[in-house]
Amino acid sequence: MSEGTAKKEEKPRKFQAIRGTRDLLPPETALWNRVEQTAHEVFATFGFGEIRLPLFEETELFARGVGGDTDIVSKEMYSFVDGPSNLPDPTDQFTIGAFVETIVQAYRKGEIPKTDANSTAIEMLKKAFADFAEETQRQPRGFVQGVPDLQKYFSTFYSAVYFASVVSRGEAVSLRPEATASVCRAYIENNMQQLPQPVKLYCIGPMFRRERPQKGRYRQFYQIDAEVLEAVRKEVASGEWRVASKELAKDAAVDAEVIEMVMTLFDKLELQGVQLAINSIGDRNCRPMYVELLRAALLKVKDKLGPDSQRRIETNPLRVLDSKLESEQGIIAKLPRIADHLCEECAAHYAAVKHQLEMRGVIYRENWRLVRGLDYYMRTTFEITAKGLGSQNAVCGGGRYDGLVELLGGPPTKGIGFAIGEDRLILSLQESGKTKAEQGRDIYIAWMGEKAYTTAIRAAKNLRNAGFTVELPPVEQKFGKALGQADKLGARFALILGDNEVTSGEWTLKTLADGKQEKLRESDLVEHLKKQL
Ligand code: HAM
Repeated sequence: MSEGTAKKEEKPRKFQAIRGTRDLLPPETALWNRVEQTAHEVFATFGFGEIRLPLFEETELFARGVGGDTDIVSKEMYSFVDGPSNLPDPTDQFTIGAFVETIVQAYRKGEIPKTDANSTAIEMLKKAFADFAEETQRQPRGFVQGVPDLQKYFSTFYSAVYFASVVSRGEAVSLRPEATASVCRAYIENNMQQLPQPVKLYCIGPMFRRERPQKGRYRQFYQIDAEVLEAVRKEVASGEWRVASKELAKDAAVDAEVIEMVMTLFDKLELQGVQLAINSIGDRNCRPMYVELLRAALLKVKDKLGPDSQRRIETNPLRVLDSKLESEQGIIAKLPRIADHLCEECAAHYAAVKHQLEMRGVIYRENWRLVRGLDYYMRTTFEITAKGLGSQNAVCGGGRYDGLVELLGGPPTKGIGFAIGEDRLILSLQESGKTKAEQGRDIYIAWMGEKAYTTAIRAAKNLRNAGFTVELPPVEQKFGKALGQADKLGARFALILGDNEVTSGEWTLKTLADGKQEKLRESDLVEHLKKQL
């Protein structure tokens, strides 16, 4: 092998971001920050407080909250066992002994779940391993195929391997695919039902879903999520109609205000082509009947549907309405519509939501097919689309989810919220040029000579303190090169500091756009720039 090839092979491999994840880089991150800052400001004006949640939770929380049959939970979660790593391999005859020993120690120290089931599993493992160890002892040294007792040797081994797989090595956890279930968990865990109700929270951060990546769809994506939670008062829970009808009106106002809030944010950001679609999907009184009606109607046209929809007739007929398959559109248009089958309460609530939106000047479109892919919704569902996003054009989705907190072990509680897909929001703003001119540096300091460097450092400090963006090159550059660099960075001004300037105390400020030069004293510089920038 030549020296050249050897060198080539030694070159460390380059790493790439995992499929579906990406780096967000400047200057784009400036836009992300502007969007988030605007969200902080707008949400604060509606009385929302920020909550920061863990990035991973018990898998069971999402399974129960979002729904075990949803795509998100059944196919897309990043799940792992949160237990000791580097355990010896229990499927290897030579390391299974070390595995058993490590597990027994870990159980004793509380490093793996201390449950009755796990205690039993470990006892079974110990017993199975003892049988295997005994068999190993009975084998002649260096045994080979064909030794009569080999069968017993392997059967005891596989039995021990089996019991090793039964032992729980830790909690099943998942990276959060969404935030609503976590917000409900936090509401319960932190006793937020004791706070003045409703509790209004928002959170901004990454979510994780193992979807097929494409434009606007990532495996790590970002949401701006907002939720309103309200403990159900005792008199409401009693179900008296007069109280209930007041509650319906109040819920409708909350729904409309939440929608108004996200529309206000989009407005502030000048998001283009914003369209709000709303629907009511009923509640547990009326929806089951509608679902059965839908199922019966779908069964009649089953042969004309694609395989996904055929499967959904059994698992979740509502999701058939979500279908984008061209060939199914005509059939879906003729299916029964939920608006015609809402119970009295749901119909009153839906009418009130629409009225409330109108009072707030929020323009909406009704879409009876808007059912959304998460199990927790009831009554209001909504989705917002924006310009320039192609097939993944939903920039926000949300809805009401009364009962979810209860499902997660908390007190009876109402809920409504939404999540904005921040990646898509940014994409849409970029596509329509609403990104605001990216700022370069305000001032580039071109300095030459040791004395000038000390002055340049002082000037940079003072200018930054005054709020200007300053680039101070760390090494001396010829003025020509420095000015070229200033140009590339998009600087507005170059402050030229050489021996002459330092000695005379008259600094040179060059406007890069037109090449104009002015002489200024140090004490006048900040004021002068403030007038210009
Ligand atoms: P969702 O519809 O699953 O709802 O997601 C909300 C938004 O997140 C979508 O409209 C989309 O903009 C964005 N999004 C979802 N998946 C991806 C992805 N793979 N890549 C990029 N963006 C994506 C929820 O998550 C509910 N928790 C919303 C909610 C809050 N409902 C009530 N409260």
